[in-house]
Amino acid sequence: MTATISKGLAGVVADTTAISMVNPESNSLTYRGYPVQELAAACTFEEVAYLLWHGELPDAGQLREFEAAERSRRPLSRSTLDVLARIPESCHPMDALRTAVSHLGSEDPTEDDADANLHASIDLFARIPAVVALVQRRRRGLAPIPPDPALGFAENFFHMTFGEVPAPEIVRAFEISLVLYAEHSFNASTFTARVVTSTLSDLYSAVTAAIGALKGPLHGGANEAVMHMLHEIEDPARAGSWLAEAFAEKRKIMGFGHRVYKNGDSRVPTMEAALRDLAAAKDAGRLMELYDALGGAMVRAKGIHPNLDYPTGPAYHLMGFDIPTFTPIFVMSRITGWTAHIIEQLAANSLIRPLSAYAGHEERRVPEASRRL
Ligand code: ACO
Repeated sequence: MTATISKGLAGVVADTTAISMVNPESNSLTYRGYPVQELAAACTFEEVAYLLWHGELPDAGQLREFEAAERSRRPLSRSTLDVLARIPESCHPMDALRTAVSHLGSEDPTEDDADANLHASIDLFARIPAVVALVQRRRRGLAPIPPDPALGFAENFFHMTFGEVPAPEIVRAFEISLVLYAEHSFNASTFTARVVTSTLSDLYSAVTAAIGALKGPLHGGANEAVMHMLHEIEDPARAGSWLAEAFAEKRKIMGFGHRVYKNGDSRVPTMEAALRDLAAAKDAGRLMELYDALGGAMVRAKGIHPNLDYPTGPAYHLMGFDIPTFTPIFVMSRITGWTAHIIEQLAANSLIRPLSAYAGHEERRVPEASRRL
């Protein structure tokens, strides 16, 4: 029998989901039916997180209760702080985060039913920012700053990272990025989480594996790679020649292209508008010139459009975050989508186990030991 192989599972529909819909034809993305652009314009990130988990936007009472739960669960335990203190400072923050999430799992004694999983999801949502902020500060030789329960999710992250909350427009640009990053159907890291969950393993194992998948530069790691690339090119006038050289070396240009969207990523216009406002506020005209020069040259040369990581990289840079903190920020957001998918997978589980077409040696006999050794 000749099997049809979909390399990289391209074009394969693996299951149904009610969490989000990506439509490349209409260039749209909806979370639980709501266009992501409308959510980014009108909602806080806490409201969007609630929507992803519960299927509906919260009313005022539900939001108050949810915010209170998130704010009360932010502090890290002594034992998590001790584990983080023992991780080498030189390691990538995604490695520290992966270890921290695994450790948080060992501190949670509850069973893996749907209620416990929702509780664990909110715990991770509340605690991951404290890990990310602590790790950036440690790399700068600074002591951690405890969370402030008087502040919302996004403001508190700035407070824990920098000891201050920037102007509301900057917090808003950050919050828009979190809304846009939150969920994207069966992307590589979410699918990883679903595969792990499908074996009836626990939520923390699934999230730890998802962090590993997100770290790679073909996925979440691209937002960091974009900023390294912009630093490397430096001069807007060099964008075209740099690109030609990269093509000649058959290098992938980070922050461009997408497995599903072939005519542009539906999230980019919203993030790009936030980036332009941010750049105007920070007097970063030259960076935007380079951003536009490279983006234009890439579309002209190959017809390949930017993905969400192209505008978020420079946006996080302008907000003051260190480059190795960019992908961990993606985790702070995508933890909502991952855990919504873990809960959905468990509700109608089937072990995820594809087939492979064998392409190795013909069957052969093991030679006797005297002929091998
Ligand atoms: N730079 C250069 N060429 C590219 C790029 C790119 N970024 N993206 C696609 N292409 C080219 C490929 O070389 C290939 O050309 P060929 O047919 O002449 O060989 C063609 O476009 C098709 O590309 P594939 O790699 O087959 O497309 P695929 O769907 O597998 O790749 C991917 C999608 C992995 C995202 C790819 O576009 C890429 O590597 N991009 C850079 C990394 C990146 O930005 N990742 C972030 C993804 S979005 C997110 O995680 C939020």
